[in-house]
Order: sequence, then C-alpha cells, then structure tokens
Amino acid sequence: MSTTQNKKLGPLTKLIKGRKKSASSAQLKLYEAMRAGEQVGDKQWQEAAKTHSWLHFTRHSPFNSKDMLIIERGEGHFLIDSKGHKVIDGLSGLFTNNVGHARPELAEAAAKQMMELDFMPLWSYHHPRAIELSERLLSYAPKELTRVFFTTGGTEGVESAWKIAKQYFKLIGKPQKHKVISRMTAYHGTSHGALSITGIPQFKQMFEPLVPSTFRVPNTNYFRSRDEFPSEEEFGIWAANRLEEAILFEGPDTVAAFFIEPIQNAGGCFTAPPSYYKRVREICTKYDVVLVADETITGYGRSGEWFGSIRYDIQPDMMVTAKAITSGAQPLGALFLREKYFTPFNEGTATLAHGYTFGGHPVACAVALANLDIFDRENLVDNVRKNSPVFRKTLEKLHDLPIVGDVRGDGYFFAIELVKNKETMERLSAEEREKLIRGFLNGAMYKAGLYARADDRGDAVVQLAPPLTVGPKEFDEMEQILRGVLSEAWEILNS
Ligand SMILES: Cc1ncc(COP(=O)(O)O)c(C=O)c1O
Repeated sequence: MSTTQNKKLGPLTKLIKGRKKSASSAQLKLYEAMRAGEQVGDKQWQEAAKTHSWLHFTRHSPFNSKDMLIIERGEGHFLIDSKGHKVIDGLSGLFTNNVGHARPELAEAAAKQMMELDFMPLWSYHHPRAIELSERLLSYAPKELTRVFFTTGGTEGVESAWKIAKQYFKLIGKPQKHKVISRMTAYHGTSHGALSITGIPQFKQMFEPLVPSTFRVPNTNYFRSRDEFPSEEEFGIWAANRLEEAILFEGPDTVAAFFIEPIQNAGGCFTAPPSYYKRVREICTKYDVVLVADETITGYGRSGEWFGSIRYDIQPDMMVTAKAITSGAQPLGALFLREKYFTPFNEGTATLAHGYTFGGHPVACAVALANLDIFDRENLVDNVRKNSPVFRKTLEKLHDLPIVGDVRGDGYFFAIELVKNKETMERLSAEEREKLIRGFLNGAMYKAGLYARADDRGDAVVQLAPPLTVGPKEFDEMEQILRGVLSEAWEILNS
C-alpha cells in the first residue's frame, strides 16, 4: 500500500473511533493495520467479516467455529483465496464469468468509459454505449426479438418482463391478463415479484404473502419420469400440455405470461425435448400468453449457442439475460422483447412507469461490448459447441460410482444427481442431504481444488458450469476431483 493511501486512511480510523465510541475491535484492527501499511490479509478480513458482514443465501452459524472462504483473486479459470489455495472455477463465479476472470480488456474498457461518461441513467436520456450494445446484442439474439430494455441483473429482468406484460395487456384492452405461470423448482430471483414466480416453496415461505396470481406447472425432470413414458418426446408433450391445462383452468383471459429457463438450473440442469418447446410455443400463441425465456444462466454461450432460445428453437416473446453479458465484470442485464410488446408504448401518452437507476450503466455497457469482442475473437460459442459432447462423456465416466444416478445438461452446464440406490434411484433423505450437501460436498470439492455447487433445492445434485474458455484437459481434472470426493461421499453415506 502506498504512503499516500496510508495518510488518507488515518482520518478514516479517527472517524470510526470518533463516530462510534463502540467501534468494534475488528473494525479498529482492520483500519489500524491498513493505516500502518501492514499487509492486510486473511486474519483481519476473517475477523472483520465475521463481526460485521452478512453473506447471501448462507448459513452463518458454522463461521462461529471455522473460517470463511475469502476469494481474493481470479485468474483465467482459477480462483485464489486469502489463504493462497487455488481452485478451478467450475461454476464461472455464479454462471457469470464466461470469459474467465480478470481479463485486462474488460478493465481497460471500464476505465476508458469512466473517463468519458461515468454515469447517465436511461431515464428520458440515452447514451452511446447503451445504443451500441443494444444493436450488438440484437445481432446475436433470436431474430424475432427487436427491442432491448436494460436492467442490472436477472431478478430485475424477470420483474420487468412481468410488469411490461401486465401493462401491455392493459394498453391493448385485455386488463384481466395478469397471472403468471412458471415451473416447479425453478428459480427466477428474489424480489417479491420474481420470488412469487420462483417455484421453490422453501425459499418463499418466510416472505409470504407474496404477489398473488402465480401458478406452477411441472418442469421437465425426465430422469424421474422415465418409467411412465415410452420416450422423452412423449414426456415433453405431456409436460407442455400441463401448461395448457393450467391456462384453461385459470381462464385464458387472465393469464399474462409463462416463464421457462431453456435449461432449468434448480433441480439440476433439466433439459427438454424439441416436442416440449414446440408445444409450449403453440399453446402460448393460441392463448396470447407471453412466452418468457429466462436466460439469466443459459444466455451468452452457455448452451452451445448464443442463447438457449436459439439452440432449442424456443421462439420466445421476451428473453431475460444478465450475468455473463459482462462475464460478471459489471452488473448488467438485458431484457429482449418482440416489437409487438413495445408498439402500444409508442403511442400517445403511454409510458412504461418502470426502470432502474443503474439499468444500462454506461460502464457496464462498455464492459459488455468488450466482453462480446472476446467471445467473437476467441470463438467461445463454437468452443462450447465443439467440446460439450467431450465434457458430457468425461462426466459420464462417473456413472461407475454407486452414488451417481444421472448425468444431464447441455453445453457447458451439467448436473450429476446423487442417489442412495442406483437400481431403484432412491433419493437421499433430508437428513442425508444435510450431512452430504451442507456437511461435506461443497467443502470437500473446494479442498480438492474445485469450486462447484452441491445443491438440493430439488433432488441432490452437483452442478458444473465452468468458463467457456476451458476444454478437455480441465474436464479431466474436474472429473478426477469429483471421482475422489463422490467416492468419499458414498462412504460417509454408508458409514
Ligand atoms: C434463471 C434465473 N433467473 C433469475 C435469477 C436472478 O438473477 P440475479 O441474481 O442476477 O438477480 C437467477 C440467478 O441465478 C437465475 O438463475
């Protein structure tokens, strides 16, 4: 740390002491160390973080007796923590860092933009980077989508799609159309609106009552339905027909939208056969229901096409994207829409009374443009398309382990479902999931050199979504780590 910075930190320490007589020892130690120019690192961070900060979706009590994992640096497809441990980023941060970490091009684009126009909202005024980015994004998007509405993330994209759909129907004289249908176990975000659309009861119960008028239909978990259907295609038709049933039951005049992820994340990478998407499209057209593809995860190459909607020919009416639009280097989201939904807002006094201060932030847009340059220069989407079958094959080797029930997914997005009995596909009990998912797997994978995600919002799965820059060498490394950890998990399960 430079001497100038040290001098600047002096008053900060005084401020903390002066303002809060009771400034905690963690605060003071951290700032004293910074002021003294000492190397601030794991020890001070642990104390300050445990004393004052609150992590997202995290059980905090274990940190009363153990350290947090503090990720200090990212390098390409690696993460390095504050104790110097280096792991493969098998989850691209949180499905975000599709070009890997710490790419200088993104930093340069951000710095350049900050010197030119550091901020301007898209409220009544526009700015060049958002205009350029819209045009660029549309050049990769499904051709039927022609408008872009910027947000700062996935939740805001979901929220915006629902609100635009509601106001659209009011403007065209169908004011009753306001209900939303989504799929069981699907995650669509955390605001009251997006959470209402989310299909995971355990995330919702403590925040109820939520926004009314949302309904769930089955997802496309074919692994758990195989015995009931002669083929996946027929299962797909059955699952899509549940949507029609729900629309008819609620009344087509009251249903505004249906939200789906091209590959459903929660539950473990549920793909769907072509019959499903075809039938869903037919049903949404028939009943004038807005088909929203939530591509918060699947957008920007993850599926092996620019968007899952292209890969599976979904032909959505709206498409929510976020995360990898900047490869995580800036918070940004883009909601794509068909012109039809914009047209009534382009007449008379009609206005969409909705927006976000930082939606389409110029620095984020500049970073997104630089990110797309990297995608093009390094042919990342082609890389996924070419290597996805190799990734699948590598992970399928794990089928020889007794705990592995299923390997599924697409592109660079796979889940391994864990079972208690391979023959009967018996699920892990709640107690076993607690022991394995929270008590062992995430920590053991990390210790063995892999940041991935063990999750049981649905059945127990381990999920992988590495940066799109990796290839067969990294697939092998991940498989080897998983082999060791899952073998140990089986022993724990049976101990
Ligand atoms: C499908 C989907 N929709 C919405 C969201 C919410 O996005 P955000 O956390 O950026 O608000 C997520 C987050 O992972 C997601 O996976």
